[in-house]
Amino acid sequence: MSKKLLRALRGDVLDVPPVWLMRQAGRYLPEYRELRAKTPDFLELCYTPELAVEVSLQPIRRFGFDAAILFSDILVIPDALGRKVWFEGGVGPRLEEISDEAGIAALDVAGMEDHLAPVFETVSRLAQALPPEVTLIGFAGAPWTVATYMIGGGGSLDQAKARLFAYRYPDLFCRLIDVLVEATAVYLCRQIEAGAEVVQLFDSWAGGLPEAAFRGFVIEPNRRIVERVRRQYPRVPIIGFPRNAGVLYKDFVETIGVDAVSLDTSVARSWARDCLPDNVTLQGNLDPLALLAGGVVLEREVKDIMDMFGERAFIFNLGHGILPETPPEHVVLLLEMIRG
Ligand code: CP3
Repeated sequence: MSKKLLRALRGDVLDVPPVWLMRQAGRYLPEYRELRAKTPDFLELCYTPELAVEVSLQPIRRFGFDAAILFSDILVIPDALGRKVWFEGGVGPRLEEISDEAGIAALDVAGMEDHLAPVFETVSRLAQALPPEVTLIGFAGAPWTVATYMIGGGGSLDQAKARLFAYRYPDLFCRLIDVLVEATAVYLCRQIEAGAEVVQLFDSWAGGLPEAAFRGFVIEPNRRIVERVRRQYPRVPIIGFPRNAGVLYKDFVETIGVDAVSLDTSVARSWARDCLPDNVTLQGNLDPLALLAGGVVLEREVKDIMDMFGERAFIFNLGHGILPETPPEHVVLLLEMIRG
């Protein structure tokens, strides 16, 4: 087993770390924009295996990353559970909001797997199509982050609606989280069955919660999903991403026992290196704006990351998704800096 990303996830310290970028398939690539222009409905892109495979492969062909990530979105889960989800150009995702018990009672877990069949088909086609040295990553949103969209309706970065709902109606909120834990565990297991070699759970809105809420809404649901997936697939590495969790990253990693943790842009590297358990692989955490800017800032940041994490099991990545304005040439330069 010689794939670099899998070696890093099993704890090997490599001279040159494996590298991939969150949102590596997307709008910064002209070939993505061209294909996207012909498919105005974003979810149709996610549910059409030929197109989703093509988009997943675009950054691999162009840059030779060590991993490909399934092209899909975290919001296919609410869509598959029967909520209305749509993507408005320039606004981002919009969802029919859940505001009461009826909305939660109607979630259709039984129908979800059929609805997501095209995603599993994409995964299995990708597993066939990828060069042998490239690892295939599957993913899902973590329950809290997905719930913020389901309750808040998207469109705004303010997570207050979901938090207020959770405080006012704790039992209802628990039911929603339970449904999402179950749906997400099944969804990840099906991706693994179809050929995903690693899975990442994105908890993009984990930051800013009071400590008790962080433990209840972020750590606990992630822990239950990891436990469920491991019961079925004990050898498949799992990457957690509690974005903006600050010092609570440590509790997250220690409680859940993820194989790797993705560090957001604001995590102090020396702290992560010295304070996170030795047996967790670190992933991250270049500022997407430094990649966009290029030049000396990019060089300085890449060098700092390589120096700081050089003696740990490590995967080079961004601290959050690549920005649409990023010049693709900067990605070429980044890979040259990392690989020498
Ligand atoms: O290349 C990859 O990383 C794989 C595909 C992927 C997408 N979304 C495609 C996408 C992944 C892993 C995601 C995850 C995702 N989606 C997250 C978690 C990671 C993060 O960035 O925090 C979240 C919060 C979402 C929800 C979402 N989907 C938002 C907020 C938006 C609009 C804003 C944006 O960044 O575009 C989307 C749309 C989306 N998902 C696009 C892509 C390529 C852009 C759609 C377009 O072409 O217009």
